[in-house]
Amino acid sequence: MINSLRGFRDLLPPESDLFTRIETAAREVFRLYGYQELRIPTLEKKELFVKSTGDTTDIVEKEMYAFTDGGGREIANRPEGTPGVVRAYIENNLGQTGRNGKYFYIGSMFRAERPQAGRYREFTQIGAEHIGNASPYADAETITMLVRLLEKVGVEGCSVVLNSLGCAECRKAYRELLLNYLRLNNTALCEPCKGRIERNPLRALDCKIDGPALAEKAPKLSLCPACTEHFTRTQELLKISGVEHQVNTGLVRGLDYYTSTVFEVRSGALGSQDAVCGGGRYDDLVKSMGGPAAPAIGWAVGVDRVAMLLKDKPAADTAPKTFVIAAAKEAGEKAFALLTALRAAGISSDFSNFELSLKSQMRSSDKSGAAFALIIGEDELKAGACSIKPLKERGEQQTIPLPDAPSHIKQLLKGLSGNPPVSI
Ligand code: HAM
Repeated sequence: MINSLRGFRDLLPPESDLFTRIETAAREVFRLYGYQELRIPTLEKKELFVKSTGDTTDIVEKEMYAFTDGGGREIANRPEGTPGVVRAYIENNLGQTGRNGKYFYIGSMFRAERPQAGRYREFTQIGAEHIGNASPYADAETITMLVRLLEKVGVEGCSVVLNSLGCAECRKAYRELLLNYLRLNNTALCEPCKGRIERNPLRALDCKIDGPALAEKAPKLSLCPACTEHFTRTQELLKISGVEHQVNTGLVRGLDYYTSTVFEVRSGALGSQDAVCGGGRYDDLVKSMGGPAAPAIGWAVGVDRVAMLLKDKPAADTAPKTFVIAAAKEAGEKAFALLTALRAAGISSDFSNFELSLKSQMRSSDKSGAAFALIIGEDELKAGACSIKPLKERGEQQTIPLPDAPSHIKQLLKGLSGNPPVSI
């Protein structure tokens, strides 16, 4: 017996259905907001993440599944989607040829973090990136879309936390202030932070070990007038679209490319891994990766965490509506034709094995969760009919001519509890 890797898991029904439901709802929301899908590779050159996610981040320093392939190339499994989208945008000249710079992606990301509840080494993100728009309207639209998406899938009780990290200009002066403060507190820093504060002092504030103790007394970033205006405007626009949010100046985000607006959606119901979604602006990334000057904003939702929040809610009914049974050996072909006709009429239907006993097929039928068993035995075969046996609700068994079965079943389904009653 070979087990799965630690931190990698099988998604079994009904959780897998929940993932599909979340992804389907997301696709609908993306269509409403004019987003198109980008399917980007799971493997990229390692350098892509080193240069964009950042070589001082935990993701790149410690958590990447990186390896050298047979051809001596340094490769990594994507730990996040943004770098791949930016690469694809530049490589395919989407700034010129694309419709509106709005892209979404859905897929697995890989991070070698210590596994725990809500934290896996392979996890699914639904991500959105809006490239080529510097306006606060883009910030407000993106965050509103995110909140609507979470509402649509049924997530409740989340809070939206917002901050601004300013532009390169505001950060220049702040960097020196913060660096001085960190140098003075050098003995309190963890070893990795000691090594990286000169390259990226902001990382110490986001560090899981140092951050909480250092952040309180650390000098605060003061935004330049343009960044202040952008941040204020974003919040005003969020009021107009009805998105409640809180500003938290301690929100730093652990990836290097962020500028200006950053945000997270958190849920108290998730425990220590409480971020359902993270995102923000990355106005300088596209240019720094060799593309045009294209300010951008995006986010990624952790689908595994959304699924945790929805686990106890009633699941979508994925059971077949009917289960077809051949109660006589010669009835198999007719039963198979009936199954085909039901499915062609859009009625989800299943069967087990027409060559097994009636008892065994009935057992499978009970297990299937179907609303009706459709049985063809010797008598039905002679009459060119099938018997319909309700499985979920009380009711008489009835015999119906085979050609009428699909339309009759549709009528019966309409009359089931929860649906308005229909006279048959
Ligand atoms: P992130 O904050 O690293 O941002 O990840 C986004 C979300 O992915 C998190 O809020 C969380 O829900 C989920 N997530 C992260 N790591 C794990 C894990 N190990 N197991 C389960 N879920 C996890 C990004 O990835 C950025 N690319 C977001 C972005 C897009 N920013 C701009 N555009």
